[in-house]
Amino acid sequence: MILAAGQGTRMYSDCPKVLHSLAGQTLLEHVYQTAESITHRQIYVVYGHGGQQVPDSMPDRDIVWIKQEQQLGTGHAVKQVLPEIPDANDVLILYGDVPLITDESLSTLVTACKETGFGLMTAYLDDPRGYGRIIRDEIGKVIGIVEEKDASDEERRICEINTGFMAIKASHLKKWVAALDNSNSQNEYYLTDTVAMAVADNVTINSVLAESSIEIKGINNRAQLADAERYYQLIQAHHLMHQGVTLMDPARFDLRGELEIGRDNTIDVNVVIEGRVKLGNQVSIGANCYLKDVIIDDDVEIKPNSMIDNAVIGKRCVIGPFARIRPDTTLNDNVHVGNFVELKKAEVGDGSKINHLSYMGDVHIGKDTNIGAGAITCNYDGANKYKTIIGDAVFVGSDVQMIAPVKVNNGATIAAGTTITKDVSEDALAISRNKQREIDNWPRPVKKK
Ligand code: UD1
Ligand code: CA
Repeated sequence: MILAAGQGTRMYSDCPKVLHSLAGQTLLEHVYQTAESITHRQIYVVYGHGGQQVPDSMPDRDIVWIKQEQQLGTGHAVKQVLPEIPDANDVLILYGDVPLITDESLSTLVTACKETGFGLMTAYLDDPRGYGRIIRDEIGKVIGIVEEKDASDEERRICEINTGFMAIKASHLKKWVAALDNSNSQNEYYLTDTVAMAVADNVTINSVLAESSIEIKGINNRAQLADAERYYQLIQAHHLMHQGVTLMDPARFDLRGELEIGRDNTIDVNVVIEGRVKLGNQVSIGANCYLKDVIIDDDVEIKPNSMIDNAVIGKRCVIGPFARIRPDTTLNDNVHVGNFVELKKAEVGDGSKINHLSYMGDVHIGKDTNIGAGAITCNYDGANKYKTIIGDAVFVGSDVQMIAPVKVNNGATIAAGTTITKDVSEDALAISRNKQREIDNWPRPVKKK
């Protein structure tokens, strides 16, 4: 059961808190995935604030969505779901704004519940402010939780806190939640009051410690969101380094999705990877590159400041610096794409080179073709897009415009400065250029006084 109905006032956002993003996924999605990794049982999400946006953010997930019309407290939130749950089940309670919780900690908690019927995850914090405190009796048994706002000065000095994560036998939970009242300083139905009820019913509270005190941190503002992001990124970076990737600086690496790696990949600083990216062996990615949904084969070099979105890159290609490769582009092997080159819906054949200041869009380029500096496919007439087909071993001179639809056949040469408006025959030279003329002793303009 994931509680996600709260408002998140301190985010100062029009976006519901649980839909803010951590490493490219919503906070709620992180919690869902962790929950799913430890159970095959139904997952319920209590939503409320933000309304339908929250369920709409996860249309393909197997979730039973339960709306909590008014947020009357964690106990009230849980109560909304309980009619759905068979008595014999155990209920694991998670939070949509606590995204770093690990499957290890949760598994320990579930096991604790199997033992006594009530598993409670606690943590010791140097600064316990804001959290509910764990009350133990003289022999160390948990007997209650007191919320900070209801706590005495002495209770506030307790450093063992309620993480909020609990696993409780459903039959018990139903009984206790039904008996909750809101006679406390916040007039909320506190889930935490079930602890004292369990003790009164002789159910032992089986407390377990979270694996780390970072994973239990909730996100209430954007500074905490940024802290969580850094922590998460560092964990991903270390995971990749342990799998054999060289990261020039793990603190300056951002993965917002999935990265599949080969051997001996090197990634320089400030690289951002989104979606699904797959790297072959010996791939090197220069500083400040952005890669989204890309498949890159072996021995590719991507030089600094390049952007690649939705493309397939063949073996031994060299890309950048400052290249922009846009969606639906395929580079075959040994292709070179240089600085200030933009490719869109381009298929480029083996060994072809587009090295400088060029736009190639809606284009098919054959093998061993050279595209000169500043060459452009004019693919758009303001209403429709058209295709340019360039064959094998073509030489396109500098500053050529190819007005699509047009075809340049194998072996053709296009002289620099030419505007191509008709198909070019195989092995021909196409040239459209005004004859150069001279005016002798040309009087240069002079600045007016
Ligand atoms: C809660 C615990 C506190 C614990 C802390 C850990 C209670 C009474 N207190 O306090 O002991 O130390 O978490 O972070 O449980 N929610 C709903 N519906 C509601 C109220 C809350 O879905 O009506 C959700 C919120 O979206 C949030 C979570 O439950 O994700 C916790 O609610 P919040 O009000 O923040 O509880 P805390 O005061 O932090
Ligand atoms: Ca909270």
